[in-house]
Amino acid sequence: MGPALRLLLLGPPGAGKGTQARKLAERLGVPHVASGELLRQAAADRSPIGLKAKAYMDRGEYVPDEIMIWFISEHLNELGADGFVLDGFPRTIEQAKALDLELDTEQRPLQIVIGLDVPDDEVERRLTGRRTCPSCQRTYHMHYDPPAVDEVCDEDGTKLATRPDDEPETVRRRLQVFHQQTDGLYDYFRERGNLVSVDGCGELDEVSKRIDEAIEAGPR
Ligand code: AP5
Repeated sequence: MGPALRLLLLGPPGAGKGTQARKLAERLGVPHVASGELLRQAAADRSPIGLKAKAYMDRGEYVPDEIMIWFISEHLNELGADGFVLDGFPRTIEQAKALDLELDTEQRPLQIVIGLDVPDDEVERRLTGRRTCPSCQRTYHMHYDPPAVDEVCDEDGTKLATRPDDEPETVRRRLQVFHQQTDGLYDYFRERGNLVSVDGCGELDEVSKRIDEAIEAGPR
């Protein structure tokens, strides 16, 4: 795998995008660009965009396209990196078209889109057991991926927290929004010849291995 790979992890909330994207970016030696993490950081910093976004996030709804497109484009420009692992952006066709236009113009187009398939009932199990480090944002699962010390982040010792949008009712709303606004993106990337589907169920390492194999094989 070359160091300048540009790829996107696409999947429903709780599919394991963040968990896998973080490890993959490390393996590839490229930045991990996670739209949700960036928005949560902006909200914690009380920036105008962060505060505006928080109202949508707390309801389990998408932040409007025009805000997201500007926000992520600024971040990618600041990064200036040749390769990256995108996680959570784009998630509407409008966002995908804007990103493609920008990256194509800069001659650094997206190369592979990994579609991480996980059914809705498994998503609900994963999100209700998730714990997140408020400091470094690393995620854990109480049963599937616990920290070494109960409720404490392995990376920096911070006490773990439950994300407000992981309440069961908000999870159901997030899944509904995903199916309404992101399902169509699979066809969009399939038509562009970018999409590779990967089964996101099973052990974490098993899923990582499938992702590596899918990248090696490339889109079909
Ligand atoms: P964001 O933070 O991106 O949330 P999401 O897409 O809903 O995804 P999650 O972070 O919930 O899940 P994940 O797939 O990363 O799973 P994880 O690895 O943590 O976005 C939050 C909000 O910001 C959105 O709702 C929206 O409001 C806004 N937003 C962000 N981007 C936007 C955009 N582009 N446009 C508009 N609005 C935007 O794993 C989940 C759990 O499962 C963890 O506990 C993990 O340990 C566990 N797990 C992972 N893999 C496995 C496995 N193989 N087996 C068992 N457990 C596993």
